[in-house]
Amino acid sequence: SKGIILDCDPGIDDALALILALASPELDVKAVTSVSGNRPVDQTFENARRLVALAGRADIPVFRGAHSPLDRTEPRSNLVHGEDGLGGVLLPPSGAPVEGTIAAQAILDFLAREPEGTVTLVAIGPLTNLALAFAMDPDVFRRAERLAIMGGAVRVPGNVTPAAEFNFWADPLAADRILQAGVPVELFGLDVTAQAICTPDWLDAIAALPGPVGAPLSGMIAAYFREDPLLHDPCPLAWLVAPALFTSVPMCVRVETAGHYSSGNAVGWTAERADAPGPANAKVHTSVDCNGLLDLMLDRIRSLSER
Ligand code: BDR
Ligand code: CA
Repeated sequence: SKGIILDCDPGIDDALALILALASPELDVKAVTSVSGNRPVDQTFENARRLVALAGRADIPVFRGAHSPLDRTEPRSNLVHGEDGLGGVLLPPSGAPVEGTIAAQAILDFLAREPEGTVTLVAIGPLTNLALAFAMDPDVFRRAERLAIMGGAVRVPGNVTPAAEFNFWADPLAADRILQAGVPVELFGLDVTAQAICTPDWLDAIAALPGPVGAPLSGMIAAYFREDPLLHDPCPLAWLVAPALFTSVPMCVRVETAGHYSSGNAVGWTAERADAPGPANAKVHTSVDCNGLLDLMLDRIRSLSER
């Protein structure tokens, strides 16, 4: 199975992504790292610890990451996922020991330890931790096989501003540096995640699952549904498990780090354009088979519930 490190800011769609990863035998989750995003990092760290424990995988280490974006002193968060980031659904605390290593260092430690070109870094929050790891040791960072990122809105409007998607807007500099880090990128922005719409029937099916996972997950989704019924963060994980569900276009992608109105905007140049600032560095995902995605997720969450 594929080794991954999952960097996240749970976050309700992050919670679904994390559960999908832990429920998929194709994936071997080496570590989970947390970052400020939907909520500040103390909260996303605690949420990630509780979610990993909920899935029965408290053996997977969870690391605390960056408090603020590269060029700011305070996080840029949102309230889409509620004050606590999980829609008010209270999960039991994890009994796992609290890891002392910071996320960026932990990412480098795993990349140094695992064979070169075997670990995929999956990032579903602002890219601060990855950018810090890259700055600390670019050579070790480039041992990653690829980056699978939820972020950006290349050919569609943003969700925080007309120009920008939340994860890129929250730390544009980190996003731009990571896209140019020299590791192949699979980009799952709003171009594709706007098609990953969860339905009331799907929500009911999750709520009806036996075991400890279905009820809290459906409680979270119900809270989130009203704000944003899109399954953004599960997309990169679903692609790793079932790539045939997605289609993508290679592009050269950069992130606006300076604009007055367009900070965090993802700009993509297709191969036909002669004005690209560099070679193609990302596969920009543009479509998903939504029913296939919902079936896969329901299936995997069910299998975890029956374990
Ligand atoms: C992204 O922003 C967050 O609210 C979600 O968790 C997702 O990672 C979507 O723009
Ligand atoms: Ca997220």
